[in-house]
Amino acid sequence: MNLLNFYFCYLFSIQILILTVYSFTPVGSEEVTGDPDEKRDIADLITSRGFDYEVHYVTTQDSYILGVYRIINPFVSENEREKLRPVVIQHGFLSSGSTFLINSPDGFASPCDPADQLLASNDYNDTHTNNLGFLLANRCYDVWLANSRGNHYSRNHTTLNPDKDKEFWNFSFDEMIAYDTPNLIDYVLNVTKFESLGWIGHSQGTLIMFGLLSEKPAYSLKVKPFIALAPVTYVGNILLALRFAAAIPGALWTLRKAGGELGDSSTIIKTTSQFVCGRWQPKSCDNLVYPLEGYTPSMMNQSRVNVFKSQQKLTGTSVWNLVHFGQNVNSRSFAKFDFGTIENKIRYNGPYPPKYKISQINSTQVAILYGKADRLGDPKDLQKLVKELKVPLFKDYEIPNPKWDHLDFIYAEDLYKTVHTVVLDVLRESQIELEKQRSGQIAKI
Ligand SMILES: *[C@@H]1O[C@H](CO)[C@@H](O)[C@H](O)[C@H]1NC(C)=O
Ligand SMILES: *[C@@H]1O[C@H](CO)[C@@H](O)[C@H](O)[C@H]1NC(C)=O
Ligand SMILES: *[C@@H]1O[C@H](CO)[C@@H](O)[C@H](O)[C@H]1NC(C)=O
Ligand SMILES: *[C@@H]1O[C@H](CO)[C@@H](O)[C@H](O)[C@H]1NC(C)=O
Ligand SMILES: *[C@@H]1O[C@H](CO)[C@@H](O)[C@H](O)[C@H]1NC(C)=O
Ligand SMILES: *[C@@H]1O[C@H](CO)[C@@H](O)[C@H](O)[C@H]1NC(C)=O
Repeated sequence: MNLLNFYFCYLFSIQILILTVYSFTPVGSEEVTGDPDEKRDIADLITSRGFDYEVHYVTTQDSYILGVYRIINPFVSENEREKLRPVVIQHGFLSSGSTFLINSPDGFASPCDPADQLLASNDYNDTHTNNLGFLLANRCYDVWLANSRGNHYSRNHTTLNPDKDKEFWNFSFDEMIAYDTPNLIDYVLNVTKFESLGWIGHSQGTLIMFGLLSEKPAYSLKVKPFIALAPVTYVGNILLALRFAAAIPGALWTLRKAGGELGDSSTIIKTTSQFVCGRWQPKSCDNLVYPLEGYTPSMMNQSRVNVFKSQQKLTGTSVWNLVHFGQNVNSRSFAKFDFGTIENKIRYNGPYPPKYKISQINSTQVAILYGKADRLGDPKDLQKLVKELKVPLFKDYEIPNPKWDHLDFIYAEDLYKTVHTVVLDVLRESQIELEKQRSGQIAKI
């Protein structure tokens, strides 16, 4: 490769980075509102709503240390606490556990009764908060907020230093599937002494569970139910701009060779706003990049844009994770990381990376909630996933609003009404189902 080629590859790679980061970061007015949630991390957010919390450091089999936050409802006595059903909430790409705590300024701790979980969502008079983490804690669930390796809360390892050892960043969602997810599940079940837990994922948070259930179907016994918000596995029909970027010759190769951390997105945003938009007003700049984003601005509380943006600073992942998505966009498959022919042969015993086999999933408790207008989890890609599933879905729910997009599951103003009531119902139906199976087993004895 001559120098000029290299230069272009480099420029294009940067372009992919920019496109990606823009797609996951909300843009809006620049003025500072001084909302207290802007300066809060997960721990502060939890205590600001009157809850307590525990941080658990979960060490994975490959030595990464994940920072996991457990929300404690102070109105539940210690003895009662161990009876609460555990639910893990798993964020998506370039995100963190705070995603489920910041939608609205409410969600204050309130007394609960585990029996309430079996009430239909409409019968219940709770604080109808749009913050899923607080909502579930106020419904007497034992809520665990996961953080994927490499994000702000999980930049930790038993021997590697993420700031100094580049090797730390040699991972993609393959490792989240092979280690983070099963290790976290086993950890939570060990602590709570439950046999199974509920799992709610958004976007990449669903991809890693579909991956795990494909690779290790026995985890279907431990995950009941799996609720997938904006499910993603196949990405061949993702937003055209991202497809275009991933297809630029040499770009993914350059990024793979570069490796490292997909860094502070706010810095990249700031630099590119200046670079791309030049002397234009920020507003017209927003309009320019709007078509790239996976959410609907008119549906979110505009007064909270600065909170959403500031939380985006406490995220992070590896460049390889982005490259992995790009590879699957190009190959239109749900496959493992492509290291190139030579290294693939060493790692996988063949020239191509193996595919995740959706058809191996045997869980009968998979619920999907999706939007018609999802530009990052395209309906055509979802159809492909559903077609490959050999088991019936526990729930197949299309959000009635035809404009519903990928990140509307995080930012939309009517999350409680549109999404969370359905989530609560699925959790309830799952428990009723488990109860039935349990009494069926007792009857047999
Ligand atoms: C909800 O409120 C109504 C009327 O205020 C009351 O009749 C009902 O019992 C309440 N339900 C619960 C679960 O507290
Ligand atoms: C890294 O993990 C250890 C526990 O193994 C914990 O004590 C430490 O606070 C963590 N560091 C960070 C920066 O999260
Ligand atoms: C379960 O937890 C106990 C202590 O709480 C620990 O000694 C044990 O190693 C854990 N087992 C697994 C499989 O994590
Ligand atoms: C799914 O397959 C695994 C591994 O073969 C098995 O242990 C488990 O019982 C199966 N689960 C269901 C729900 O059939
Ligand atoms: C980690 O990735 C870099 C490229 O980013 C590569 O040079 C290095 O050999 C990799 N290390 C391991 C242990 O795979
Ligand atoms: C919108 O956000 C602002 C700022 O956080 C807040 O004061 C207001 O109550 C929010 N509106 C709703 C409907 O949650």
